[in-house]
Amino acid sequence: MILVTGGTGFIGSYLVKYLVKHGEDVRVLVRDKSKLELLGVKVDFVKGGVTNKDSLKEAFKDVEEVYHLAAIFRHGESKEKIWLVNYGGTKNVVDETLKRDAKLLHVSTVGVLGFASSNPLDEESPYNPNPNPYAQSKAKAEQYVLKMQREGLKAAIVRPAFVYGVGSNYGLNLLIDMVVKKRLRFVIGDCRNFIHPIHVKDLVKALVLAMKKGDSVYIAANEKPITLRDFLNLVASYVGVKLRYGFPPKLAYLILKIKGGIGGSSAEETISLFTRNWFYNVEKIKSLGWRQEIRIEDGVMEVVNWLKKLK
Ligand SMILES: NC(=O)c1ccc[n+]([C@@H]2O[C@H](COP(=O)([O-])OP(=O)(O)OC[C@H]3O[C@@H](n4cnc5c(N)ncnc54)[C@H](OP(=O)(O)O)[C@@H]3O)[C@@H](O)[C@H]2O)c1
Repeated sequence: MILVTGGTGFIGSYLVKYLVKHGEDVRVLVRDKSKLELLGVKVDFVKGGVTNKDSLKEAFKDVEEVYHLAAIFRHGESKEKIWLVNYGGTKNVVDETLKRDAKLLHVSTVGVLGFASSNPLDEESPYNPNPNPYAQSKAKAEQYVLKMQREGLKAAIVRPAFVYGVGSNYGLNLLIDMVVKKRLRFVIGDCRNFIHPIHVKDLVKALVLAMKKGDSVYIAANEKPITLRDFLNLVASYVGVKLRYGFPPKLAYLILKIKGGIGGSSAEETISLFTRNWFYNVEKIKSLGWRQEIRIEDGVMEVVNWLKKLK
């Protein structure tokens, strides 16, 4: 039996469907049972949460592999809740995995590394999470997994980069949505900085490979990064709008400071998305046999078409 936490979320729902399609017996730890129907596949489930140890005990019955995705991503939640779920929840999952001698695939984030300089970051880069509770709690959670690995936990960690795909309404999808809704005409800076997307379906394959073959930390992102400008222009070409670059970052910062950042990110984080490099070396996940299958042009077009229908 395979247990998935966060299996009704964006990435988790793709993962659960993939595992079931490949003949696996899957159990999902769910907070809201009605969300299971949206998965459209037959799975076992236990109602509960990662902060509820009793529900975890029940969920772990006969489990050999655990994909741990449950986390609070949106910055709108209280700091305490984010820490409780992202760090405390991971600790509970790790402790139960160790007790059962199961294997853990922990889903972390490249956010634990912060932004890059002129060279891509890799698995050896030092921790440097942004000063927000999400990145900080994910870094601490990952460090706990590594600590327990040294004490016998069977585990691998995947740090996804900018995940996009049909079904998400935040992260890169939020940026795509802003272009689709024509809410982004004047863009901060010249956007010559790199971002590093990965399609959710390519990510799922990386997660499964790391579970089967991995035993350390792996960054998962497309084989090549893309400048933010090329990415936005790609979206704009599908929408039929022309973006104007060069809105002064300092002025944008002042406006964002008053209005709040974009998508729950602070003014500082929003500016750094538009001005810093966020790119990675992906040789380590490739050494497990992973390859990018979805071209950015195709993945983005799919998301644009989906968002247009929702408008
Ligand atoms: N999306 C990205 O760009 C990205 C990038 C890097 C890393 N990640 C990581 O990928 C993982 C999945 O993210 P996502 O994008 O799929 O986010 P998501 O759609 O918000 O999914 C998060 C999942 O966690 C569940 N959850 C929240 N609190 C819980 C609790 N107390 N107990 C049990 N489950 C709980 C949610 O349950 P409900 O379904 O009931 O709401 C949801 O299924 C996270 O660990 C995140 O840090 C995501």
